[in-house]
Amino acid sequence: RSIEGFSKILLDEYSQHLDEECRHYLSRIRCNTVRMSALIEDILDLSRAGRIELQKKPVHLKEIVKNVFNDFKDEIEIGSIAVSTGDIPVANCDSSLMQVVFSNLISNAIKFTKDKESPEIAAGFDNEKNAIFVKDNGIGFDMQYHNKVFGVFQRLHLPEEYEGTGIGLAIVKRIIERHHGKVWAESEPGKGAAFFIKIPLGG
Ligand SMILES: Nc1ncnc2c1ncn2[C@@H]1O[C@H](COP(=O)(O)OP(=O)(O)OP(=O)(O)O)[C@@H](O)[C@H]1O
Ligand SMILES: [Mg+2]
Repeated sequence: RSIEGFSKILLDEYSQHLDEECRHYLSRIRCNTVRMSALIEDILDLSRAGRIELQKKPVHLKEIVKNVFNDFKDEIEIGSIAVSTGDIPVANCDSSLMQVVFSNLISNAIKFTKDKESPEIAAGFDNEKNAIFVKDNGIGFDMQYHNKVFGVFQRLHLPEEYEGTGIGLAIVKRIIERHHGKVWAESEPGKGAAFFIKIPLGG
């Protein structure tokens, strides 16, 4: 963090004393330290998701999903994304960790629909599969990678186009496993992706 701070001071206040090359390297250092702190934060979140004691109580998951959509309302508006939330049964679970789960799924859905003509994201409960879902009509991925996406640092799309470190779904998986549940993905390239979650509703 102090590397980040000092390089910022150098860039902001001493930049007229530095030559072009110096400024270039300094801004590279700064970019990399910013990315490194983000990465460290992500790794800490992942380890926290595995350790933290679950605070289980009956949770209105529909409300959690709506709150998360609301947290992303700026991105949703800018991208003209159509969002919808169906009914989701009350489940005995940890509400702040479930918030983290939906936050990761919804932020992915927003990210991977950004190049679509009419982006859509829907969350709800699939009665046939008996599972909660978050679906989008974005770029999707090949089903041969459907398990790989849950691995740490596993990313299927180019970092130049879609930013991220590849930790979000690993956190989701860990949280759902701690609830003795299951999470899986179904997708087809160009046709969007659906993520399903099954947790024992009684806890
Ligand atoms: N809704 C989706 N549509 C298409 N591909 C997806 C979707 N969600 C995840 N993926 C693929 O799975 C990879 C892993 O997702 P994950 O959320 O773990 O990482 P990330 O979003 O790249 O980075 P982070 O969540 O750490 O910021 C993504 O990089 C992407 O290739
Ligand atoms: Mg993600």
